[in-house]
Amino acid sequence: MYKIASIPGDGIGPEVTTAAFRVVDALAGRYGFKYEKVEFPWCTQYYLDTGKLQDHSNLPDYNGYDAIYLGAIGDPRAPVGLVEKATILTLRFGLDLYINLRPIRLYAEHLCPLKGKTPEDIDIMVVRENTEGAYSQIGGHLRTGTPQEISVTSIINTRFAAERACRYAFELARKRGKKKKVTLVDKANAIPTDAVWQRAFAEVGSEYKDIETEHAYVDAACMWMVKNPEWFDVIVTSNLFGDIITDLGAQLVGGLGIAASGNLHPGKISLFEPIHGSAPKYAGKNVANPLAAILAAGMMLDYLGESDAWTTLETAVAGLLAREEIKDLSAKSGLSTTDVTDIVIKAL
Ligand code: IPM
Ligand code: MG
Repeated sequence: MYKIASIPGDGIGPEVTTAAFRVVDALAGRYGFKYEKVEFPWCTQYYLDTGKLQDHSNLPDYNGYDAIYLGAIGDPRAPVGLVEKATILTLRFGLDLYINLRPIRLYAEHLCPLKGKTPEDIDIMVVRENTEGAYSQIGGHLRTGTPQEISVTSIINTRFAAERACRYAFELARKRGKKKKVTLVDKANAIPTDAVWQRAFAEVGSEYKDIETEHAYVDAACMWMVKNPEWFDVIVTSNLFGDIITDLGAQLVGGLGIAASGNLHPGKISLFEPIHGSAPKYAGKNVANPLAAILAAGMMLDYLGESDAWTTLETAVAGLLAREEIKDLSAKSGLSTTDVTDIVIKAL
């Protein structure tokens, strides 16, 4: 019996969350697990109605839960980033969800915009540090709005956080048993604080003799991911670079309609979400592709220990895409959110 907190959120969030839990229900029957889901209200409408935002004082509400599932947050009716930061960053930072795990896996050749790349070529795991870096929120503005404005945000890199992210990445490369390679992505040639990542990576890497180490500056990494994605196995990187390269990575495998993620504190409550945003223009129309949300729920089941359920789901989705039973991942595919969900459940 798992206890899951669900935050459907804004825009298409509620629709894709419903889709994801329909799939979880189908898997629960087949794999014999049960779960209890409690919905949490955090979203822009709730903020507009009540003035309430999630903050660190609400975090004890998640005590006793095994996982949190989040649909999507973001709505132009609230100030830019306000509800996103309050909901997502409070959870990432407050629950110390120090790994943001973002698979970039090509399920079917026709989904890849690169010429001649096959599913064998694109299977990358990005391990994004999730609690500091440029997301520290430390800083401020002075003389705001004047030509003399000064604006500072500190990039925080601690050796502790770099080390635990690197260790997770090396363990993952070993567990995957694929190319057995970890690539550190940073910008140490221009940003002095990134030297911390290089030191942590070298030290942790020396404990993993069976795993090859590699390094790429983030600009070059963007180039190689497009030119030779088959070079990568596990990538470890800081918060902002991880944010950026995973949107690029998502486009290599079909776009944000398929990209799922887990915000993890191994062994503790963790948060699962599609990488895509709330797509306000598609909200309530039953057109959003729910596959990313469904796969995020699958990653959640895997994390909870239902790895057979996850394997079955991932194999089913890969098959549907390869056979072109789901051809197009965009909101204009002609398949509704419920159609895609029905097709997945039937395939299971
Ligand atoms: C993501 C998003 C978030 C991030 C935003 C919404 C704060 O882009 O999860 O990738 O930058 O981490
Ligand atoms: Mg992002």
